Amino acid sequence: MLKLIVKNGYLVDPSQGLEGKYDVLIENGKVKSIDKSIFIPDAEIVDVEGLIVSPGFIDIHVHFRDPGQTYKEDIASGSRCAVAGGFTTVVCMPNTNPPIDNPNVVDYILEKAKKVGLCRILPAGTITKGRKGKDLSDLYTLKNAGCVAFTDDGSPVMDSNIMRKAMELSAQLDRVILDHCEDDKLAYGAINEGEVSALLGLSERSPEAEEIQIARDGILAYHTGARVHIQHVSTSLGIELIKYFKERGVSITCEVNPNHIAFTEREILFCGGNARVNPPLRKEKDRKALIEAIREGIIDCFATDHAPHQTFEKEIVEFSSPGIIGLQTALPMALELYRKGIIPLKRVIELFTINPAKILGLELGSLKPGKPADITIFDPSREWVLNEETNFSKSRNTPLWNKILKGKVIYTIKEGKIVYKD
Ligand code: DOR
Ligand code: ZN
Repeated sequence: MLKLIVKNGYLVDPSQGLEGKYDVLIENGKVKSIDKSIFIPDAEIVDVEGLIVSPGFIDIHVHFRDPGQTYKEDIASGSRCAVAGGFTTVVCMPNTNPPIDNPNVVDYILEKAKKVGLCRILPAGTITKGRKGKDLSDLYTLKNAGCVAFTDDGSPVMDSNIMRKAMELSAQLDRVILDHCEDDKLAYGAINEGEVSALLGLSERSPEAEEIQIARDGILAYHTGARVHIQHVSTSLGIELIKYFKERGVSITCEVNPNHIAFTEREILFCGGNARVNPPLRKEKDRKALIEAIREGIIDCFATDHAPHQTFEKEIVEFSSPGIIGLQTALPMALELYRKGIIPLKRVIELFTINPAKILGLELGSLKPGKPADITIFDPSREWVLNEETNFSKSRNTPLWNKILKGKVIYTIKEGKIVYKD
């Protein structure tokens, strides 16, 4: 019997209200027990004195570009980024080529993920065939093939009738809709509509593009009873709307991309295309509203929207591919909120663990005995630089390239196996 003890760490597990110095005993890939001090003669020991021990992080929004655009990322390189960032489970978006709109693509991803064997990769299937917004995908078949959620991420579902049908079906199938909210008639351009777009003469994406779709889909969720999760909310009114629906008992949740709480549209002036993302970086008032929403509990989880693109695809802002890599930078960015005293450490961890697990309806994000031993162990004050040596992605599109980051994952354990060690 394989036994491993994670010893002397400072455990923070919001799913069971645990915080303090504890040892964790792992047996056959599962959490066996948690206690003040565990001694077992035949167990392997990992001494993590001075480090934080958390349930394995879950990222419900990554783009691994596999199949189809593996020059940007693939399932192997994406998995390496994930575990280096502390993520033991990720949900990969279906805007691949071909898209995840049929069981063959799901099989391909699950098989490759298994071969790589680093993190749990759960595919999301498309809402519409080919992500074209015209015909509903076969959601039933996609669920049976292994899709944990449905989304046309990268594009909105513009047809309200199709979205309504998708919600009705997903409610029956007990799956969540991951909702990319941007009305594409209003969000046609490169960056946020504001002073930077005016200054640089760039095409625009307005905040109301996002807000209109949040309002519509909150209303559809109210009527259909579906679970709707708003992806990468980025505006202050967007937050207000989500709060409105939550207060009325609608099954609506939301995520924030750490880049939206760290940067504003002004980042374009410093980083050009590497600061271009959809929805775009917004204004200071939006950034502040997102932080406040994290503090108040309106935002349910962090999601990286890890979106790798090559340097040549980022050169000219107006024509650049939107997206920022984020798996390795998410923890240090989130820890800034803890360091500034805005939220306690247990809230940071809740936003990476039990909350995303609940959104997906997965029995993960917790170290209760009997659960899979997925564990993230980090040093909140270790400084490091994301550069050629430390980056595991095939791409390097982030404003944080070559910057000093604070907070580093030291071990990632998946089902009792060490899958990353600093
Ligand atoms: O910035 C983005 N990049 N937003 C999306 O919704 C899609 C993503 C991508 O696939 O690159
Ligand atoms: Zn998106």
